[in-house]
Amino acid sequence: MDRNDPSYKGQRGYNRFLLAIYDPWVLGFMTRAVWKVPVPPGIERYRRLMGRRHLDVGPGTGYFLEKAAPSDGTEITLLDPNPNVLRKTSRRLAAMHPITVEADVMKPLPVEGPFDSAALNYVLHCLPGPQSNKAVAIRNIADVLTPDGVLFGGTVLGLEERHRPQARAFLRAANLAGDFDNLGDTAEGLRGILEESFETVEVEVVGSAADFTARSPRPASP
Ligand SMILES: C[S@@+](CC[C@H](N)C(=O)[O-])C[C@H]1O[C@@H](n2cnc3c(N)ncnc32)[C@H](O)[C@@H]1O
Repeated sequence: MDRNDPSYKGQRGYNRFLLAIYDPWVLGFMTRAVWKVPVPPGIERYRRLMGRRHLDVGPGTGYFLEKAAPSDGTEITLLDPNPNVLRKTSRRLAAMHPITVEADVMKPLPVEGPFDSAALNYVLHCLPGPQSNKAVAIRNIADVLTPDGVLFGGTVLGLEERHRPQARAFLRAANLAGDFDNLGDTAEGLRGILEESFETVEVEVVGSAADFTARSPRPASP
């Protein structure tokens, strides 16, 4: 991680302490009670959309991958700029023999593709805004997918969307601290940046977040 990089604030928080409490605090409490996003459908979607060669960008603790239980023979690559994340996740998922790549999704990805699928789950709201700036991350993933590859995930939306009061308060605090940079992120804006790089895009608002699926990457512009 590079302290001077614009993406640094969204990556730096994942230290050993946060990773130790992440599953009960973020997935057990925040996601369900504050964002109002149920977790089991996210696991089911992960299981359904994951292909044989799969890239997880920003795996956190590896919770979704573990619960989605990929079939034998699935090749998993974990990409994250934060070495704590890669250490924790590769340990947890050791039985899957994942490849780990220390890299920032805002830069061209140094990976051995192409991949059949990629997850970008709850990462976009951590990336440096405005939302149009995050199109770079989507493009970088599209560039390492097969022609019929799929990108899927979810992201917390900004203040223009509907939220419970607790969610608004948390959004403001997380943006002030720099862990999130998403105050201006909208579901329509998300659709826009996905459509820049993919032919077929689905976006569904669930609670304070949007789930997305994007298929068939467009060729990179010359
Ligand atoms: C909120 S966690 C999401 C974890 C997991 N995907 C989940 O859904 O539980 C955000 C993850 O994105 C990673 N991340 C933050 N900035 C990133 C960047 N610029 N490139 C790649 N990953 C990034 C963090 O290190 C962390 O692993």
